[in-house]
Amino acid sequence: AAGDLVLSIESSCDETAIAVVDSHGTVCSSVVATSIDFHARFGGVVPEIASRKHVEAIVGVYEEAMAQAGSHFGCDTLTAADLSAVGVTAGPGLVGALVVGVAFAKGLCASTGLPLIAVHHLEGHLLANLFETPDLKPPFVASLVSGGNTMLVYVRGWGDYQILGTTIDDAVGEAFDKVAKALGLGYPGGPVISRLAAKGNPCAIHFPRAMMHSGDYQFSLSGLKTAVITYIEGENRAGRPIDLPDLAASFEAAVIDVQVAKAVTAVEQTGVSDFCVGGGVAANPQLREAYRKAFDKRGVRVTVPPMRACGDNAAMISVAALRSYRARNFAPLTLDADPNAPL
Ligand code: KG4
Repeated sequence: AAGDLVLSIESSCDETAIAVVDSHGTVCSSVVATSIDFHARFGGVVPEIASRKHVEAIVGVYEEAMAQAGSHFGCDTLTAADLSAVGVTAGPGLVGALVVGVAFAKGLCASTGLPLIAVHHLEGHLLANLFETPDLKPPFVASLVSGGNTMLVYVRGWGDYQILGTTIDDAVGEAFDKVAKALGLGYPGGPVISRLAAKGNPCAIHFPRAMMHSGDYQFSLSGLKTAVITYIEGENRAGRPIDLPDLAASFEAAVIDVQVAKAVTAVEQTGVSDFCVGGGVAANPQLREAYRKAFDKRGVRVTVPPMRACGDNAAMISVAALRSYRARNFAPLTLDADPNAPL
């Protein structure tokens, strides 16, 4: 009844994830193991640790994903013979992390004869929006915001992407992480900053809205990060206590104002009626709300992925792999990880 089953592997950063989807894109299993606790004390992902943790985790994650998919169909566990294809994130990401998933996928395909599918990590984040809005169709504008990426994309068609702008320095998630680190709030910074921001006053401290009126779709986050750090140091020197909720809310407001302003311009200039968001930062409640507020009154539909599909996961990679599977767009077993794969 399920037809074809596509299993996909994601290991581009610190999550080892494997998921199985059926031919309708229904998620039969989705397992995510993260090595985040091992990176936390370093204030960011340590590539060497991430690679080693992928090696340790990947077989267990595979077995768990096959078992979960089995119980989805009311049987014990799936075997490789039940699968139709294997997808894998080939890039972009940390090269030592990517190769673990790519090698595992190639081994699985070499030993079973299953076709291999290469998936672009950001296309996965983009397609995570289909879990929320299955009828989402290009053209639309998307914002991809994570720890490593900040990108405004004009999706003219599936696979036909025009990158309108990116960051010239730090990624949005990186700014959250660096501000949290400066405040001693641990890693990752996004969730803790957004929880604090929910209780703070976004107008308490004025931080710069870099490149807000630059007339293009480029972003810059490192000046904001420096402004926040300078503020913290100034308050510390003056012996004044820092109001964490106000600081978090004011920092977020500076980020969100620029993200929303450029997204609105992009939607107006392209004339599309759909806007969506992807990547770890898409989980930010204030950002989601700000997009809804700005676009609702303009009659533009906003889609955000379900919370569980914002951070790295393999369900979104499987949905992307399924599209390639239908198009018989397979990769050779010589596939290599591409840490800088262009969208
Ligand atoms: O997509 P993701 O899991 O991994 C990358 O590919 O980078 O994104 C992780 C990033 C981190 O920088 C994290 O701080 C940020 O997403 N993040 C958030 C929130 N939750 C996660 N940023 C802002 N607000 C959040 N609620």
